[in-house]
Amino acid sequence: VAMEALRNLIIIAHIDSGKSTLSDRLLQITGTVPAEQLQDRTQFLDSNPIERQRQITIKARAARMKWGHHRITLIDCPGHHDFSRQVSQSAGAVEGALLVVDASKGVQAQTLSSVELALEAGLELLPVINKIDLPTADIDNARDQIEHLVGLDASDAILTSAKQGIGIEQLLNAVVARLPAPQGSPHKPLQALVFDSYYDSYRGVVLFVRVVNGVVRRADRITPMSLAESKEHLDRPTEYVVDSIGFLEPHEVPCNQLHPGEIGYLTAAIKRVGDVPVGDTLTHCGDDAAEQALPGYEPSRAVVFCGLFPTDSSDITSLHVALQKLQLQDGSITFEPDSSAAMGTGFRCGFLGLLHMAVTQERLETEFGLDLVASTPSVSYMIQTQGSDEWTLVSNPSVIPHGHVKIQEPYARVEIICNQDHVGALMDLAQSRRGDLKDQRYIGLDRVKLVYSLPLAELVTDFHDAIKSRSAGFASMNYEIEGMRQNRLKRMDIHVAGEQVDGLSTVVHEDSAFSDGRWIVKKLKDVIPRQMFKVSVQAVLGGKIIASEHISPFRKDVTAKCYGGDANRKKKLLKKQAEGKKRMKSIGRVTIPQEAFLAILSGK
Ligand code: GTP
Repeated sequence: VAMEALRNLIIIAHIDSGKSTLSDRLLQITGTVPAEQLQDRTQFLDSNPIERQRQITIKARAARMKWGHHRITLIDCPGHHDFSRQVSQSAGAVEGALLVVDASKGVQAQTLSSVELALEAGLELLPVINKIDLPTADIDNARDQIEHLVGLDASDAILTSAKQGIGIEQLLNAVVARLPAPQGSPHKPLQALVFDSYYDSYRGVVLFVRVVNGVVRRADRITPMSLAESKEHLDRPTEYVVDSIGFLEPHEVPCNQLHPGEIGYLTAAIKRVGDVPVGDTLTHCGDDAAEQALPGYEPSRAVVFCGLFPTDSSDITSLHVALQKLQLQDGSITFEPDSSAAMGTGFRCGFLGLLHMAVTQERLETEFGLDLVASTPSVSYMIQTQGSDEWTLVSNPSVIPHGHVKIQEPYARVEIICNQDHVGALMDLAQSRRGDLKDQRYIGLDRVKLVYSLPLAELVTDFHDAIKSRSAGFASMNYEIEGMRQNRLKRMDIHVAGEQVDGLSTVVHEDSAFSDGRWIVKKLKDVIPRQMFKVSVQAVLGGKIIASEHISPFRKDVTAKCYGGDANRKKKLLKKQAEGKKRMKSIGRVTIPQEAFLAILSGK
């Protein structure tokens, strides 16, 4: 197929706007997947990050469809911020994007950050207004919002009802007419972008690639270009032989070679997902190698760290094996042994964000049958002890020495996009999280972009939720790590019943240490269950107790401390109690539930 006949695209859509239904319709109308198959197994393309992380079903990530003499390839990509890298990586593999908007709801905030990523990648956007069959559909309003919020001309937006199969042909025709064909040359050295991968226990890692230049064939010797820059993974193999290659329709259709502009899969006996990371460029070995990698590769960086401890200490070996297995499939998880007097032995693990952390903990528990407690998450810090001029990286607050220690913390450059009406509330929020305003400008009629430099520690907790709740759900954000900055920071410990609980140590700013301490012990008082005896909860800064609370002794009624008889909360609590000692860690004489370690995170 000539390159002019190829079209590659992703779909950007808010959850529930009909992305999966629409994808299925496209597969059906183009005869890619027979209607009967779609009916009993609806929604072929789905990249819900949690599902994908769990690999419950390896759903298709891309599908090539025939439309006339054209070949349209659709790549699916997820929406959550922890996985925004996947969106940019998918965006790097295509030329266009469908922006699907629910006619009854209009443009929703989460889509905006994906739109930004798509525009940054230089994609052509095609607006699609779906669910026009609904009585509540307001097409004019949806058009208006696309124009004002996204800044796209929506006068010729495609109107569809994925449910009833309306407008699907028009959509395919518009894709062909309005999205650009790929460019590239088969005569140049091979450059193929790895935009996704998964681990298959039989064949090794399956890579999803987009060929940009050159041709890749079966039996070719290939190498990942990131190797040249990588320092950490000295044990990565340098050469692979392609042992299978093909298109995705959406099942694998083997072929002999992939040409520029084409999207497909390949396997090459790759053992670990991290050996050929997503975002990497493949080229041929030897003299035919490309000189430059394609843009888009950054080593995946763990930003959130926590200790994972088995509630039953004899599970430590199983936990180690489980983490090793997970790392084969997910190159972004890091781990190293960790132990403390209070928490026992476990592993200090690094994650892309809190969602990634939660998903991984859940996988470890459900797939590997482990019962774990995670310590309070933290970012990493650089520390310098007195008399030394070396900076050391630590990802665990409880190892920071007391006394005179200089501490640097990571900062992020945060871009917030919001409506004019919410600027005040969002600025207050960023201010309260120690943010420095760097830029503020209008983009579009009443949309404003705020740029902040903000400590990563303030960001990774609940900043995203806080932004949503202060903007009626309508602001979106993106961030990238800027670098380290020294601040007046101190390690704060928590003592429960006189015993230091390492897993609850945090790093706080001197200016807010006292209020943070008071807030944390209050919170802990609420989530640590009563014991048979009176329990003190203290926040300790540099050896001094700065805040203190008491948990009074046990009473039978576990729901007693629920304020206002909130039925839901009561139910949850009772369920927790029914689950017995699950997810509790015994520290000295007191059992501390998982909830306590996470309580410190939410909403100061
Ligand atoms: P996530 O997978 O959660 O991201 O959702 P999605 O965007 O893929 O949406 P999905 O296709 O699962 O559709 C969400 C709901 O909207 C389902 O109940 C669909 O049946 C319904 N739906 C999708 N398209 C249409 C449409 O054109 N009209 C109507 N009335 N309902 C639709």
